[in-house]
Amino acid sequence: MDDIVVGIDVGTTKICTLVARVEQDDALRIMGVGIEPSEGIRKGVIVDLTNASQAIARSITQAEQTSGVKIETAIVSLAGAHVASINSRGVVAVSGHTVTIADIERAMDAAKGVAIPNSREVIHVIQRGFSLDGQDGIHQPIGMHGYRLEVEAHVITAAAATAENLRQAVGVAGVQVAQFVLNPLASAEVVLTDTERNMGAVVCDIGGGTTDLAIYVNGDVWHTMVLAVGGNHITQDIAHGLRLPIDLAEDVKKQHGHALQSEIGLEEAFNIRPFGSESPIRMNRRDLCLIIEARVEEIFELALQEIKRSGYDGLLPAGMILTGGTSLLPGIRPLASRVLEMPVRTAQPEKLLGLADRLNSPAFSTSVGLLTWAAALQSLPINEKDTTRKKTRNMKGDGENWNNVKNLLKRLLP
Ligand SMILES: Nc1ncnc2c1ncn2[C@@H]1O[C@H](COP(=O)(O)OP(=O)(O)OP(=O)(O)O)[C@@H](O)[C@H]1O
Ligand SMILES: [Mg+2]
Repeated sequence: MDDIVVGIDVGTTKICTLVARVEQDDALRIMGVGIEPSEGIRKGVIVDLTNASQAIARSITQAEQTSGVKIETAIVSLAGAHVASINSRGVVAVSGHTVTIADIERAMDAAKGVAIPNSREVIHVIQRGFSLDGQDGIHQPIGMHGYRLEVEAHVITAAAATAENLRQAVGVAGVQVAQFVLNPLASAEVVLTDTERNMGAVVCDIGGGTTDLAIYVNGDVWHTMVLAVGGNHITQDIAHGLRLPIDLAEDVKKQHGHALQSEIGLEEAFNIRPFGSESPIRMNRRDLCLIIEARVEEIFELALQEIKRSGYDGLLPAGMILTGGTSLLPGIRPLASRVLEMPVRTAQPEKLLGLADRLNSPAFSTSVGLLTWAAALQSLPINEKDTTRKKTRNMKGDGENWNNVKNLLKRLLP
């Protein structure tokens, strides 16, 4: 069972545990699925440990029952406004004058050595490029001659207490967290093509409580951001604006929603029953879509601000790849393109084998991405990490952790 991978996506609206077998050519055969409505989670963060633990446990049990696999460890998604990232450099002398993996690891450790307070936990240290004796732009320095190796790294940290709460909530269900993976990095595994990754593109996953962004340039992650706003805010606006209970507002959004009110005919209408009303009333669909458009526009304006703040806004010719449940909203793609002034496409998991029916939706990009990530981790040779293709996945907090992960993954597979 060396080829089984497990991912738990702890989202604001749903918790999704997936068990899959990695088949030839890295194809994923979904063996177990456990999808449960989230409880005790707001804006990507646990706010009620008991409720969250129970919901996570139910999702895990479901996935175990469908797959017949006892889950012991898993890759778990992480999001929330507490996530922060910085770019950092690590410099070391090359010990044998020929760069080895050990040199790279030391350089990564040095990059990680930037002052990180105790209240923060390092989630990813991602190498963005190397320079050797001052020569920039080196992608794969192993085997090259030189004296001074510098690594440019992207260090992603989370609030330690928040990460610990999530670790504990998963632990209650008897499952150990092998590694946390930041939401947008998991989604990118599924929705981003190699061409986009190399040309420069931004992945944007709009879920219920968070909007997760990751900027890829030259094949690597250069910047990540998590905004604490998502589809739930659209629903809340509708509930306030039309005086509807939240559940009804959510249904109305999914049934009649559109992100561009100008696309809606003046005469289009639907029936609803607001608070305090005895009988259904007729509601103009344009009024609904006006509310939606205002909020969605604001989400993309915030995203644009963040992209500009990163300084990489000029490096994204492949534009934005939009995913997450909220990307199902009709009209969201052209609206995004209008606000961001860049090409936008929507994407979702594809080419899954086995129990894939429910997963062919942009809401499951992160969930499936965790499996792809786990599969990539597993396929790494023990002594020789392929730092060219899998670099975004194989770097974590530190070297020791890395070995732990490999061991954990091994243990997961009976
Ligand atoms: N057809 C649809 N039209 C509009 N919105 C939709 C549609 N289907 C789902 N959504 C919205 O997608 C959101 C859920 O998306 P998703 O499942 O990606 O979130 P999540 O992963 O649980 O949350 P997060 O990643 O923010 O923690 C909800 O706000 C839901 O209303
Ligand atoms: Mg999500």
